[in-house]
This record gives sequence, C-alpha cells and structure tokens, in this order.
Amino acid sequence: MRRLEGKNVLITGASSGIGEATAIKFGEEGANVAINYLHGEEDAQQVKKRLLTSCNALEASGCKTLLIQADVSRPEEVEGMFMEVLEAWGSIDILINNAGIQKESPSHTMSHDDFEKVIAVDLMGPYYCSMEAIRHFLSRDGEGIIINNSSVHELIPKPQFISYSVAKGGLENMTKTLALEYAGRNIRINSVAPGAILTPINPWKNDPDIKAKVESHIPMKRAGRPEEVAAVFAFLASKDASYITGQTIFVDGGLTLYPSFAENWSS
Ligand code: BGC
Repeated sequence: MRRLEGKNVLITGASSGIGEATAIKFGEEGANVAINYLHGEEDAQQVKKRLLTSCNALEASGCKTLLIQADVSRPEEVEGMFMEVLEAWGSIDILINNAGIQKESPSHTMSHDDFEKVIAVDLMGPYYCSMEAIRHFLSRDGEGIIINNSSVHELIPKPQFISYSVAKGGLENMTKTLALEYAGRNIRINSVAPGAILTPINPWKNDPDIKAKVESHIPMKRAGRPEEVAAVFAFLASKDASYITGQTIFVDGGLTLYPSFAENWSS
C-alpha cells in the first residue's frame, strides 16, 4: 500500500523545482496530482508526462493529473483553481503551498512594487489557497492537510532579500496560527523549510565556482536535491505524520545550526 493512495493533492508552482519533484513523489505514493503553474505550460506538461510515466511504471492506483494555470497572488484565480479541481475530483485532501519567488536588492533600494510582489506570491498566495482549502475541508468529512514550502529564512534573517525573509517569517506564524486554530477540526498544517537546493530559483547551480562557494557555507558541504525535500512533503502528508501539526521541518544540510560555531571562536 502506497502512503497517499487515492488522495487528491493540489500543488502550487509545480512546473519546476521542488514543486515538480513533489508532484512526482506524490504520484509515486499513489496520489492524484493537480499541477498548478503560472507561465510554464510546457514545463507543466513535462511534469505531467514524467508523473504518469513513473506512476504507471509503479502501477500506482492514483495517476490522475490536472494542469491548472493560475496566479496564486490573485484571490479570484485561486478561487477558480479550487473550483476546477473540485469540479473534476469532488474533493481535495492535501494542499501544498509551494509557489514562490525571491528578489534581491539592498533593502533601502528595493521598490515597493518588488517588495509587494514577493509578499503577494510567497505570503498572500499561501493565505488565499489555505483559506479555500480550509473552507473545503470543513465542508466535508475527513481530514485535511496543508503543507507550506517555507525556507531556512523563516528563521535566519537574509539581508538583501527583505521581502522574502519577511514573507517566510510570516509563513511560519501562519503555519502555527492556523494549525492551532484548526487542530480540533481534523486539519493538520505544517511547513517544510529547505536550505540551498538545486532548483531554478538558484541559477548558481549551473556555475561550478559559485556552487562550490555556496556549498562551502553548508555544514554538510553540499546543496540539496529537490527529491530530498519532496520526501519530507510526502512524509508530512502521510499517516506517518498523523500526530504532527504546526511544525516546520528544516531540510537544509545543517544550515540552521549556526555554522559559524562549527569551530569554537567565542570562549
Ligand atoms: C532560497 C535560496 C537560498 C537558500 C539558502 C532559499 O530559501 O530560495 O535561494 O539558496 O534559501 O539561503
């Protein structure tokens, strides 16, 4: 028995990176996967193809997929996306708030537009999607699960990424607040917080010199693979995590362990 057999999951931003790896992983665990994307229709088609190939190879029972174009920062598009999945499948069991962007700039020169855009996608997006999901979960019997893709920067401040750091800090609080509010209603809400992962959000993955520099800062001395993050999403969505809510699991090769203390310099 696969861990997510027959479950209906909606993954935002699933056309690449961690979202893509999570879509494949959930398919392998037997889930039906709604793949949300913003611009990357071709990429989303590819993810669907990969998902169906690995699903069928494993003879998993789920393997239904949907492709849904929607901008998570627009509440009316989020509403439409949920309606589309519900019309097709009748129910959603798991929401993965994965879509995210980041923008770099010294804080005092970042435009308000850039700041707001990141908050809109990384914080308002999960908020709009979570509200739709919770309303749906409460309208029917059975449990509901939300898992947010956060970041080590919900904890570690990130200079020059003020909007991103603020959005992820807010997401941590949203995870805990909603988890507490709905813990008695059979809804579990958790976060996965990746460190430096080899995905398109990190173009340095294709530059060996910069990659080596990034990896020198990570206690485990390597960047993570998207599959290593997807595995934790699958765990949190499964019965194996049935008593876990309001938590963040860091998947970061030790980045949150105060790496500068690896050698003593302070006492
Ligand atoms: C960011 C990456 C970064 C990592 C560690 C992630 O949240 O998206 O760009 O490499 O944090 O700073």
